[in-house]
Amino acid sequence: MGAARKINPEDSTQFRKLSALVKEACGLNLTEDKDILLDTRLSRRVSQLGLDSYSEYAKLVESDQNELQACIELLTTHKTEWFREFVHFQWLKEQLPKLSAKGNRIQIWSAACSSGPEVYSLLFLLLKEGFNFNHNQFRILGTDISTSILEKAESLPDRADFHDQVNQLLLKVPNKEALLEEIQLSLNHSLKFREFNLKDGELPLRFQFDVIFLRNVLIYFDRPTIQRVCLNLGKYLKPGGHLVIGLTESLHGEVPEYKFLGNSIYQYQPKAKK
Ligand SMILES: C[S@@+](CC[C@H](N)C(=O)[O-])C[C@H]1O[C@@H](n2cnc3c(N)ncnc32)[C@H](O)[C@@H]1O
Repeated sequence: MGAARKINPEDSTQFRKLSALVKEACGLNLTEDKDILLDTRLSRRVSQLGLDSYSEYAKLVESDQNELQACIELLTTHKTEWFREFVHFQWLKEQLPKLSAKGNRIQIWSAACSSGPEVYSLLFLLLKEGFNFNHNQFRILGTDISTSILEKAESLPDRADFHDQVNQLLLKVPNKEALLEEIQLSLNHSLKFREFNLKDGELPLRFQFDVIFLRNVLIYFDRPTIQRVCLNLGKYLKPGGHLVIGLTESLHGEVPEYKFLGNSIYQYQPKAKK
């Protein structure tokens, strides 16, 4: 059996400093048991920069916002999939008639969208259910803290997996030409991507969302950060709107403004203002 990999005490001290800087900036909670992950993800960066130690790297991250951003990009996990945790798409499909009642425009936010499949899965669900851009029937926003991952999300329509999904959708609709036109219009007008830090971000919006997908990101935060993030997002969610988190995640019953409905779906019920 190979010997377990060990982190030396000096490196561990520097990892604590780096973790504190990253946590302050974006909420990511990297405790001591993640030291090997920090070493794996940062060692190449330290060599690339020509630095001799994590101590030098920690000083650089502390003094240089761009390096802090680069460090966050290296330490965040971007794993995602098309129609991941499908039960949430089934649930959303059932909500659509109510959300669009009286001609309301459906507003959905994917608040840690990674490289985009979640956002485009939402789009394809809406198109399959007959909603379209021409009638101004929906708007979808995708945000993430990582600018490089957002670039990937914006260019996802150039990738083969996007075209595979379009082809699957085409099999399910009668008017294929109209659908292709709708996809193009939606890409140009109904979908938007922008940078947003869940920890303390602000969005300059004049409307609130019906549904926020916040999936598979809370798992990286501690409980006070989860509470803070959810309360911050509440500013952008309609009273009675829904917050959907990952199936392995929980609000731990610590954010009373969100009522648990099952399957990691919560309804926002803000306290009435006095
Ligand atoms: C594992 S992916 C989840 C993607 C998608 N929601 C899903 O369920 O497939 C987590 C994403 O959260 C983003 N993230 C981490 N911390 C963040 C923060 N403070 N603000 C915004 N996004 C953050 C990461 O950049 C990453 O792209």
